[in-house]
Amino acid sequence: MQKDANWWRHAVIYQIYPRSFADGNGDGMGDLKGVLERLESLKQLGVDAIWFSPFYKSPQKDAGYDVADYTDIDPLFGTLADFDAVLEKAHSLGIRVIIDLVPNHSSDQHPLFQAALKAGKGSPEREMYHFRDGKDANTPPNNWPSVFGGNAWTQIEDGQWYLHIFDSSQPDFNWDNPKVTEFFHGVLRFWFDRGVDGFRVDVAHSLVKAKGLPDLKVDPEEVGFDPSAQDYKDHPYWGQEGVHEVIRGFRSVANEYEDRALCAEAWVLPLSNMAKWVRPDEYHQSFNFGYLSTSWKAADLKKVIDDSLLEFGAVGAPSTWVLSNHDVIRHVTRMAYDEVPKQGDGIGPDYPQPDEARGQRVGRAATAFMLALPGSSYLYQGEELGLPEHTTLEAKFREDPTFFRTNGERVGRDGCRVPIPWEADKPAFGFNSTGKSWLPQPENYRRYARSAQEGIAGSTLELYRQLLKVRKQFNLGMGKLTWVEDLCDESTLAFDNSGVRVIANFAGTVALPAGELLATTQHDLTIEGVLEHDQVAWIRL
Ligand code: GLC
Repeated sequence: MQKDANWWRHAVIYQIYPRSFADGNGDGMGDLKGVLERLESLKQLGVDAIWFSPFYKSPQKDAGYDVADYTDIDPLFGTLADFDAVLEKAHSLGIRVIIDLVPNHSSDQHPLFQAALKAGKGSPEREMYHFRDGKDANTPPNNWPSVFGGNAWTQIEDGQWYLHIFDSSQPDFNWDNPKVTEFFHGVLRFWFDRGVDGFRVDVAHSLVKAKGLPDLKVDPEEVGFDPSAQDYKDHPYWGQEGVHEVIRGFRSVANEYEDRALCAEAWVLPLSNMAKWVRPDEYHQSFNFGYLSTSWKAADLKKVIDDSLLEFGAVGAPSTWVLSNHDVIRHVTRMAYDEVPKQGDGIGPDYPQPDEARGQRVGRAATAFMLALPGSSYLYQGEELGLPEHTTLEAKFREDPTFFRTNGERVGRDGCRVPIPWEADKPAFGFNSTGKSWLPQPENYRRYARSAQEGIAGSTLELYRQLLKVRKQFNLGMGKLTWVEDLCDESTLAFDNSGVRVIANFAGTVALPAGELLATTQHDLTIEGVLEHDQVAWIRL
């Protein structure tokens, strides 16, 4: 890998969800062998780095975010040797690799938790997690809800309760205990020593809990991941001040190595608060979920971009940008609606079905707009194909704990996690050679298969390639954004970055300025033409 201490400032990072990227052994579950075989396609796409969602040993109660061994690969996905092979090949292709760290909780099958259960009340083993006596024999220690629905406490045989902000199979670590810090520093070093380029840190905003674990004052029903529903000043586990000490510890470990980066998954608002997480001795970057949640409206986008550049800039950090991941409804589907369900609720067969054409059009425009912004961008596997959410998945196939913990009321996140299509005419659309798939693929995925788009002018795949190529050529990631105020109103936005003018049209038509058309979502557009609604053009100034 070429040395570049600043690679994370401008990188386009592609998220691989190992269960659904490519399946090398044909058992219906994606794996590292599959990734190895398909890595070249990411090189062709033009990404700078990949981020792996968890592939660690895990009972898979939350799709691998329930880790039973932080330093080994689950046999479902392969072996450490398979990982080394992927890492080596990625590096040889000039692609960096970041992996997921899940420090808020382990699996209940982790030896540390098993030891805590055995050791009993008041033991140092229990101090690794949050064990408490209830308010009375049958009432949990406080009113905290699980993000996935239901209560955040589970009672064990001896009467004590343990805390799990997510599923009951995911007990929360006690980050007030220095042994927890020590343990995770060891995990970081294990993977850094192996050569990974960084970590994405899972639910980074919940590690530290308020002293005494006080009751939540806001309505627990309203509290999920939705940051706007939360009052951070008063919240006992989202965004506690004490978390910054933990972050500094992570950063000091990363600083023992060269060119490594840490990215926080932290659903924290307002942005001025979020920016504190990326001060020079804390995380390198953080997901910008404020951007992800902003709908395709000129004024709202302009504001969130200005705020992001201002707030992150104030602490010397770049902003990141993201539209899709494995926890949210894929953006081409979100953008097919005026109103979308809350994060984590998902879309099932009973929900009004999306306007696919509208979603494709707006979703592609949103991507073309995002990829010209200075900073680093995250892509989620399949979005380069314009892949929509699976919105008619039958209940019997669902795996997301959210579905079970809410008795199906919130269908959950499986719809964005379906194995992606590679070849239109192969079994499982080329995900493997056997046709098995842990979640069934909808028939419309055939149309979105890579093979159906490769070399086809105007396809979403070719659009992404062109955007990434031009982005690199003009070094947009390291550039500076200047709004072209004359061209900004409620239906148009335009900005310049490094000699490229980006115009986004939200309604009506817009005439293009003189220049060379570098990329556009509007197939067959020429510089003499007009930009239609929900289309974006990049023009060389
Ligand atoms: C993060 C992950 C999500 C997981 C949760 C609990 O938000 O992205 O998939 O369910 O943490 O680990």
